[in-house]
Amino acid sequence: MDLEHVSISELPGHENRKVRLRGWLYGRRAGGGILFLLLRDGTGLCQCVVEASDAHDFETARHLPQESSLAVSGTVRRDERAPGGYELAVENMEVIHSAAEYPISRKAHGVDFLLAHRHLWIRSPRQTTILKIRHTLTRAIRDFFDTRGFTLVDTPILSPGAAEGAGTLFKLDYFGQETFLTQTGQLYLESACMALGKVYCFGPTFRAEKSKTRRHLTEFWMVEPEIAFAELDDLVSLAEEFISSIVAAVLARHRSDLVSLGRNVDALENIRPPFPRMTYSEAVESLHGPRTRRFLDAETSRLRARLRDSRQRLETLEDQHARTGKGWKRDRLTGEMIALRENIRALEEELKILPERGRRAADFRWGDDFGGDEETILSRLHDRPLIITHYPRESKAFYMKPDPRDPRLVLNMDVLAPEGYGEIIGGSQREENLDALLNRMRAAGMDPAPYEWYLDLRRYGSVPHGGFGLGIERTLAWLCGLRHVREAIAFPRLMSRIYP
Ligand code: 4AD
Ligand code: MG
Repeated sequence: MDLEHVSISELPGHENRKVRLRGWLYGRRAGGGILFLLLRDGTGLCQCVVEASDAHDFETARHLPQESSLAVSGTVRRDERAPGGYELAVENMEVIHSAAEYPISRKAHGVDFLLAHRHLWIRSPRQTTILKIRHTLTRAIRDFFDTRGFTLVDTPILSPGAAEGAGTLFKLDYFGQETFLTQTGQLYLESACMALGKVYCFGPTFRAEKSKTRRHLTEFWMVEPEIAFAELDDLVSLAEEFISSIVAAVLARHRSDLVSLGRNVDALENIRPPFPRMTYSEAVESLHGPRTRRFLDAETSRLRARLRDSRQRLETLEDQHARTGKGWKRDRLTGEMIALRENIRALEEELKILPERGRRAADFRWGDDFGGDEETILSRLHDRPLIITHYPRESKAFYMKPDPRDPRLVLNMDVLAPEGYGEIIGGSQREENLDALLNRMRAAGMDPAPYEWYLDLRRYGSVPHGGFGLGIERTLAWLCGLRHVREAIAFPRLMSRIYP
């Protein structure tokens, strides 16, 4: 009789039944004449028990290299000690492909090595967890807009002009005509919202950013809503509701996954409207004020304490390591030690730049755009996303509408994620007056000719409107507590990396 193929996540419904699993060998452990094979199939991990009495399978299992693919049949048994609570008592084993020596061992590797092996690295449990949470985030984003009367409009990736500054355009040759990879779908969405009212796009966007920070990718995914008749306050409310809703959706499905990533889940429970809100000028004041100084002092003490703890823990591990014989336990200790050393380096680095951060905050001049340092400080002063509005016109894009009460400012908002993750949303009300927009373009040194179609929107039934863009990788990095956005996308594109 042919056995039913099941996936590991389906095992709980198959207790005491015979099934067939297919997957890859993740790990192996021996004990008391028994081999425990750890099989992974993308839905979970299953401990497969091979008895020594089954001489043929036992020999195969004993030598099978990590990441070999195999099919195993046997009976599903409940076992508290097994990962997932179920194990498979193996009766038959079939090797589909015996793997070559796998380059990623369970000892930790440096991040450059891992990125160069990203095509394999994504098999590790931490990475599959992150990718699954990303999928949930994507669905939650679509659900949010789909259930609120928005129409999805797919905007082009090949684009004839700049929207977010000519400095970060990727150029390409379009049958002899200079063309670019899109930085944003916004300008096309503005056109679409005049047709459909409420619209959004969700796709990859490209910026030739020459920055190697933990917040920058050269290719990232952005969701952008755009709404006819919306004014700044409408955008602020929508952003609050939107962020709260996607955080709740991720929490509802992935609480234990987040914990397994080391995320402090309590911090996410807080994310409910209203969010703290201030103007750019108030934010500058707060950078110069006593709260920032108090924060920096507290941060210094906190980092020092964590550094002390980590160093102590490292000593303990090194001691254990020296006393442990060969085998998986020693491998695990090595892995933990490498991770801890990386952690210690990061803490030392942060402690070192803290005084510089403080100086920059104190010296910050009205009119400048907030950089990573200022964003980190501002967002760390709050336990919810911080909404900052009314930035100086000079530091922002040409399409933003100036504030009628103070034309040095624009009607825009940035949303900074808490805990120092930085800007996740940028948006604004748009300039809807033709002459004012033309003036803004000229002041920005732009030739209006390629934008005639965009200017048409101001000629035929122009209305107040606006929208925003949320970066998926930065949002996911915040939700999962990732240090760097490179883990938040399957195949990151960074300034210094385009392989694999
Ligand atoms: O603030 P930005 O540049 O806004 C726009 O592109 C507007 N056209 C959006 C709109 O109003 N429709 O980018 C929006 C968000 C940022 O807040 C950030 O989350 C993300 O996109 N982002 C990046 N993420 C990763 N790497 C980069 N290089 C990013 N640049 C922007
Ligand atoms: Mg921005």
